[in-house]
Amino acid sequence: MRKNIVAGNWKMNLDYEQGLSLFSEIVNMVKDEVVGDQEVVVCSPAIHLHSLHQLTNSNKVSVGAQNIYQAESGAYTGEVSAAQVRSTGAEYVILGHSERRAYFAETDEVLAEKVNLALKNSLKPIFCIGETKDQREQGEFFNVIQEQLEKGVFHLSASEFAKIVLAYEPVWAIGTGLTASPEQAQEVHAFIRKSIAKAYNSDVAEATTILYGGSCNPTNAKELFSQTDIDGGLIGGASLKSRDFLDIVKVFNT
Ligand code: 13P
Repeated sequence: MRKNIVAGNWKMNLDYEQGLSLFSEIVNMVKDEVVGDQEVVVCSPAIHLHSLHQLTNSNKVSVGAQNIYQAESGAYTGEVSAAQVRSTGAEYVILGHSERRAYFAETDEVLAEKVNLALKNSLKPIFCIGETKDQREQGEFFNVIQEQLEKGVFHLSASEFAKIVLAYEPVWAIGTGLTASPEQAQEVHAFIRKSIAKAYNSDVAEATTILYGGSCNPTNAKELFSQTDIDGGLIGGASLKSRDFLDIVKVFNT
């Protein structure tokens, strides 16, 4: 009943031509090889968005941004607004990625504003949550995740929340080659779903797509995605290689 999604996060990689070339490969491979109803999303740097959107020839591949600014418009030199992103044809935006929380000091409060602006401009947030290595080792991870949900997205009405995709990305697993085990990931995904059921109701919880992210690759994706509460992945490094990315997408073919 809920949608399976595999989303690539290109981060700050690929120049304009390289981005177009990788995206064309992905679109063609999806057309030729994907037989399930999983959705494929590519979150590129803002400079690529409009051109990538023009290359999407099937509604199975969508385009997303990696950030928006927390104001509608105005004197914010160098920033990009939700409306500007939407005007490129992009449908999604990653919000709350741990790299933005850590390197750009994005707080839960700022993120809640970004979530509101994304929804107001018909962009679907892929909202990231997850604990650091220390927080895991101290056994604080459920509390951390609960707080990120409460402050970032639980202020939404049920109908607004229905437009959100969540991504559990343990910070210690991002770009490190250290993946959460399927059991560790499932434990947190089940916790997140329970938490949504408490904040809203079980129908809303069951309908929410919750992605796993953190060193996901063609070898470990199958076991991760076969867990009851894992509905796909948010893929960093492996999304920069069309073959690897497609092999991850195709986990849902079978
Ligand atoms: P890696 O897949 O490179 O670990 O990155 C995960 C991530 O941060 C996706 O948003």
